[in-house]
Amino acid sequence: MVFVKAKFQNIFRYLFGQFYRSILRPIFFSFPPELIHDFFVFTGHLLGSAKIARSVLGFLFAYQNRKLEQDILGIHFANPIGLSEGFDKDAALLQTLSSVGFGFGQIGTITDKPYSGNPKPWLTRLIKSKAILVNYGLKNIGADKILTRITKYTHISTPFGISVGKTNCAETVETELGLLDYINCLRKVATSGLGDFITINISCPNTFGGEPFTTPDKLHLLLTAVDKIATAKPIFVKMPISISDEEFDKLLDVLSVHKVAGVIIGNLNKDHKDKNIFDKIPPGSKGGVSGIPTQELSNNFIKLTYSKYRDRFVIIGVGGVFTAQDAYKKIRLGASLVQIITGLVYGGPQTIGDINYKLVKYLDADGYENISEAVGVEHEKINNLQYDRTL
Ligand SMILES: Cc1cc2nc3c(=O)[nH]c(=O)nc-3n(C[C@H](O)[C@H](O)[C@H](O)COP(=O)(O)O)c2cc1C
Repeated sequence: MVFVKAKFQNIFRYLFGQFYRSILRPIFFSFPPELIHDFFVFTGHLLGSAKIARSVLGFLFAYQNRKLEQDILGIHFANPIGLSEGFDKDAALLQTLSSVGFGFGQIGTITDKPYSGNPKPWLTRLIKSKAILVNYGLKNIGADKILTRITKYTHISTPFGISVGKTNCAETVETELGLLDYINCLRKVATSGLGDFITINISCPNTFGGEPFTTPDKLHLLLTAVDKIATAKPIFVKMPISISDEEFDKLLDVLSVHKVAGVIIGNLNKDHKDKNIFDKIPPGSKGGVSGIPTQELSNNFIKLTYSKYRDRFVIIGVGGVFTAQDAYKKIRLGASLVQIITGLVYGGPQTIGDINYKLVKYLDADGYENISEAVGVEHEKINNLQYDRTL
């Protein structure tokens, strides 16, 4: 029966993928991206609210295999693929995640006070680059409403993280007030007891006053305050990627002396002139770039983090994941889990199951019984090569 279902899902994913790319995507891409984003969130929310829809979606999309299961920081993940921060800003999709095949998700980034968004455009498709220029600026309905909304859900069957940022407004630009704003939001999240882990987003490139907590001393200040918050939930930090290796390393040094369990590598690419951007971005455009132009940067920092810190940090890899090969690369470089947004927009919702299915094929080919065995193996190869060279 399991074999027949897997075969059926395989054919379905193939056909749906063709249909998405040749029919649905051209239709969606003929409308403004913000409208399509809202449509997906609205439809996803509706589907997640009905038991029958969840069951049908689950049957069609959710690929399961025990080789993909992991227990990390006391949390059980059915598979390593998660929805990245920013797609489900106001926690509308928590009941839908497992049905479409995700092993986990993140909501937000949420902030203490609501924010209605930066001046539009919020999203620009960069089709030649397989990317999106994102300029929401941490738009969300605010922590109070979002946390209340989550308490009403009765069918959340994946672990999820709550991404917390600093309210995007002029008042929080000053360090003390910015810090207070972060801590207010974190306290609300911690006392709510909701979510399985908490993510501190220090790296949104589209906010008033920039990224005030991405220098080592300011980050130390923020994390010293975070350490004092009473919570048993693991804390992750979402890292910037448009910085040098040295700067990244210094931030990791700071994280390592605080109660930080993991790092998410990483956020959007701030460099509009990146060599992997092939679309013309009009001068003066605001926002950070997702998709392929984040892939190499993310992989480089995953490698750097794992090679220096090994098990000290759980790494969640994100940036430019479109295929199982992309996800497997991040895992082999040291990521235990992988997140995605842009790959879904370009590839369609069956991409999640497709990645999971093919990850199992990679594991079989490499002789691993579980995905956790593949985490960081690229480093052994690198070490062995270095060893060989010294012979
Ligand atoms: C529409 C959109 C909104 C995003 N909003 C957030 C956000 O609120 N907080 C955050 O930490 N990252 C945000 N991101 C960044 C993503 O979480 C992710 O780090 C980045 O897009 C790279 O992954 P991808 O190539 O799979 O999209 C956003 C990305 C997109 C495409």
